[in-house]
Amino acid sequence: MRALTQLEDLLVLTDREIQLFLHEMSRDELSILLKGASLPIKEKIYINMSENAIKLIRTNMEDLGYVKIGLIHKTINKSLNKINTLLGTDTTKIAIASDHAGYELKENVKDFLREYKIVDFGANSEDSMDYPDTGFLAAEAVAKGECAKGILICGSGLGMSIVANKVNGVRAALCQSAEFAWLSRQHNNANILVLSGRFISKYLAKDMVNIFLTTPFEGGRHEKRINKIKEYEKRGKNENN
Ligand code: RB5
Repeated sequence: MRALTQLEDLLVLTDREIQLFLHEMSRDELSILLKGASLPIKEKIYINMSENAIKLIRTNMEDLGYVKIGLIHKTINKSLNKINTLLGTDTTKIAIASDHAGYELKENVKDFLREYKIVDFGANSEDSMDYPDTGFLAAEAVAKGECAKGILICGSGLGMSIVANKVNGVRAALCQSAEFAWLSRQHNNANILVLSGRFISKYLAKDMVNIFLTTPFEGGRHEKRINKIKEYEKRGKNENN
C-alpha cells in the first residue's frame, strides 16, 4: 500500500485498519486528528468507536480549545507516520538522484538524512552525465510507491523538474526558498523536491529538505486542484493531445 501523506488518505483504509490505529493513538492525538478531518473521515473513524469513546473524544476536543495551527500539522503528520508504520508502509524511504552538477549537493543532502532510508539512483561522481538517466529512475520509484518521496538535483533544477513531471503520479516542485518548500507540500502535495545544485547553499538545502519531508498536505480547496491533475493523468496522454 502507498504511504498515507494526508488526512484524506484515511478514506482508503478498511475498518480493521482504522481499529488497529485507534488502539495505538493517544486521546490528544486522536482529538487533534479529528479536529482537522473532513466529515467523511470523521464518520469513518466514529463508526469504529463506541459511543462512550466518541463522547470522551468530543469532550477532549472541546477541552483542547484553540490549538495552534502548527501543532495541528505536526500532530497530524506524526499520527500519519504512526499509522503508516502500523500498516507496514515505509515513509522513511526517500529516492534521491542527481547529475554531475548536482552530485556534491546530493552527497551533502544524504549526510543530513541519516535517519531516513535513502535509495540513491546516482550520479556517482562529478563526471559529466545526463540528468534523465537518473531522474526518471528516481521519479518512477516515487510514482510506484517504492519510495515515499524523492529529491532530485541538477545544476539549475530545471532539467530534473521537467523529467520528473513527465512521470504520472509525480508532482515535482523546483524550490528556491524554505517558503516554497513549505508551500509545495501544503498546497501542491508535492512528492518530489527539486534543488538547484549550482545555485543554493547546502544550509538552505537542509532547511528545504527538512520542511519538505515533514510538512503535511493541507487538503481542502487544494485537494480539488490536485484531483484535476490526477484526472488529466488518468485520461492519458493520447486523449489529451
Ligand atoms: C548540466 O550542465 C546542466 O545543464 C544540468 O545540470 C541542468 O542544470 C539542466 O537543467
